[in-house]
Amino acid sequence: MYSCIKNVLHLEALVDLLFQDDRIVAMGPAGHIPLPESCSVTDGEKLVLMPSFIDAHVHLREPGFEYKETIETGLNAALHGGFGQVMCMANTRPVNDNAQVTRFMLEKARKSHPDGPKLHPIGAATKNLAGEELAPVAELKEAGCVALSNDGRPLASTEVMRRILEYAADFGLTVIDHCEDPTLAVNWVMNEGEMSGRLGLKGQPVVGEALQAARDIMLAEYLRLPVHIAHVSSALTVDVIKWGKERGVNVTAETCPHYLLLDETSLEGYNAACKVSPPLRTKADRDALLSAINDGTIDILVTDHAPHTMHEKMTALDHALVGFSGLDLAMTLTWGLVRENRLAEDALHRLWCRRPGEIFGLPTNGFAPGDPADFFLFDPHEPWVPDEKTLYSKGKNTPFYGQELFGRVKHHWIGGRQLF
Ligand code: DOR
Repeated sequence: MYSCIKNVLHLEALVDLLFQDDRIVAMGPAGHIPLPESCSVTDGEKLVLMPSFIDAHVHLREPGFEYKETIETGLNAALHGGFGQVMCMANTRPVNDNAQVTRFMLEKARKSHPDGPKLHPIGAATKNLAGEELAPVAELKEAGCVALSNDGRPLASTEVMRRILEYAADFGLTVIDHCEDPTLAVNWVMNEGEMSGRLGLKGQPVVGEALQAARDIMLAEYLRLPVHIAHVSSALTVDVIKWGKERGVNVTAETCPHYLLLDETSLEGYNAACKVSPPLRTKADRDALLSAINDGTIDILVTDHAPHTMHEKMTALDHALVGFSGLDLAMTLTWGLVRENRLAEDALHRLWCRRPGEIFGLPTNGFAPGDPADFFLFDPHEPWVPDEKTLYSKGKNTPFYGQELFGRVKHHWIGGRQLF
């Protein structure tokens, strides 16, 4: 079955896209692709054409915390946010440190979203994320995990980190490394600096993130193995990653839209909605991260989608849980950077699709013949307000809640099927 989407904008050029079943056949200047005789045609109305994104770092909360999010609601948010594949972290209850939990997650995803978005579980690096005993890597891989991580609970032991890098590599899995020196960062609520001093709040110093990144990059170099640094929040960590890359270490890294758009000043007025791990840093850190996604020092964007209920979030800063709901908002927020000429449009393809596909070995759509027909259409002008009704995620905990934003995902095809 052939289908054609006519008149869509691909990197500012007006094009037509022809696909057959779940594969791209051709993309070319509008009106210039010869169409097969029986072909369903849809007018793309000059919407922006994007390849389906990969989110390599989400928390979907099931099993165990279904009141915050389920695999079904999380994948709904992913679908409507432009994500065709999501990689979910292991800090569920029970923790995803065995094949049973991995299979449970995959089964839930298959039942609720048989046509996608596709779920790729990330196995725990250590049993129960306790940082002591390695998780059964072969079993997790066999059950369908695509990477390993202790996300949420940094690995204090260098020896454990070394062993997990080794075992993961034996099974072709990359370790996603939550870098935070746990002894330097206890009971923190925000970035440590002039502002935390003024507000009288316990801060987390950037050096804790950079120290562990340096440790693990050195380990990766020594072992000649890959390591992927999670949710980079600071300029110092960017410098450490750059240093590692210059030495030829196989280090890759991610950051999130919120570290590019917000800084610690959002916590003025003790605003718990802006509490996240790692914490929002300074304006200078924000600028350094933006340069790093532009020059490739940071390879990919992820949401670190961390849904919580409002009552867990909108409480005193000390008690508020960390994290932001992100799947619904990522495309809108990062398109904002494109609109302001701070990021090129094709950088979105690289940061949200091509590079994560390369790093984690997942198929992506580069609009070449034979590529998967996974793509979405985006209206860059549509105004909307994230709130109870518009967010598909159960997690309404975003610092952008109630603010007028511009740009919305309008339609999404996965495997050649239009899912909305
Ligand atoms: O803000 C965060 N929330 N960062 C993490 O590393 C964990 C996550 C969560 O699970 O809520």
